[in-house]
Amino acid sequence: MLIKTRKPIPSSEITPESVYRSRRDFIKGSMNLAVGAGMASSGLLSPVAMAQDGSQPRTAEQLNLASKPQWLANKVAESRPAPDSGPYTTNEMLTPYNDVTTYNNFYEFGTGKSDPSRNAEDFQSDPWSVEITGEVNRPGTYTLEDILRPHTFEERIYRLRCVEAWSMVIPWIGFPLGDLLSRFEPTGNANFVEFETLVDPQQFSEQRSRFALIDWPYREGLRMDEAMHPLTIMAVGLYNDILPAQNGAPLRLIVPWKYGIKSIKSIVKINFRRDMPPTTWNDIQANEYGFYSNVNPNVSHPRWSQATERRLPSGLFDSRIETQMFNGYADEVAHLYAGMDLRVNY
Ligand code: MTE
Repeated sequence: MLIKTRKPIPSSEITPESVYRSRRDFIKGSMNLAVGAGMASSGLLSPVAMAQDGSQPRTAEQLNLASKPQWLANKVAESRPAPDSGPYTTNEMLTPYNDVTTYNNFYEFGTGKSDPSRNAEDFQSDPWSVEITGEVNRPGTYTLEDILRPHTFEERIYRLRCVEAWSMVIPWIGFPLGDLLSRFEPTGNANFVEFETLVDPQQFSEQRSRFALIDWPYREGLRMDEAMHPLTIMAVGLYNDILPAQNGAPLRLIVPWKYGIKSIKSIVKINFRRDMPPTTWNDIQANEYGFYSNVNPNVSHPRWSQATERRLPSGLFDSRIETQMFNGYADEVAHLYAGMDLRVNY
């Protein structure tokens, strides 16, 4: 994977987290009251998009949310806040909205960190559908509305650790992937699940390039027990609004104990399989990117250490923190790998 350096971010750009959190507490209090009064779905209490600097909310255009379907925006706005404690939240400083949405890996839009936010402005994610295939009783092509309608969205504040050794803390909006997969009734032969990103050279500039590194579509996969784990979510939003295109609109995977490469964006296909699926980065460089890609400070990437990470938004030299086993989610997921040699199954 290409590693590029960037200038330190001035502290003036850091989101005042207290503003976001106090707003959440307010919403939470209101939600509790609303549920008691039977008004939770009235839409009256919908959170609004969080202002990056705590003062001026950004416009839909600035957010690259021009094609935002209103029904989805409304549903995202009705999401439940993350629980106060436990693995679904953290008190670590949130990475500011501006960094989350301008420092991205989305090779379909280019390989530079700022390419996705620059090139995603006209991306259309409405209408959208997802094809369900393989070892399931209910295969088919489902509209985004079919996919999302039965699910209640929840905020999950997770660490995102990229294999390139930078990390962020992001308030996602989503729902457990397992709840979605169960609806398609996987057969007893479904041992793995495979995901694919949209192929659309008209929309994805890098898919038009003859020199692209990736053999499209971008593909990822999980073992079935990883996919069904309650920490694994299908994300549809962040910071209380729908996903900007550069972050994987309209729906993407988030697997917080794995390197970010597993968290595939803009999903159009879910295939249930008997055997382990091929994955994009493993195909490109198998000795560097394994199928599991669990965050592991003890197993270096062949070209760099994974023992520490650069937590955004701080500068390059003052913000390295120790990387935690399974990105800090070991209590929840270590048992999935009991007895496995994690140096071999990296
Ligand atoms: N999904 C697709 N389709 N294409 C990509 O290039 N990059 C991955 C992952 N999902 C990628 C992708 C990598 S390497 C990371 S670190 C995360 O997306 C980054 O997510 P973010 O840009 O929302 O922080």
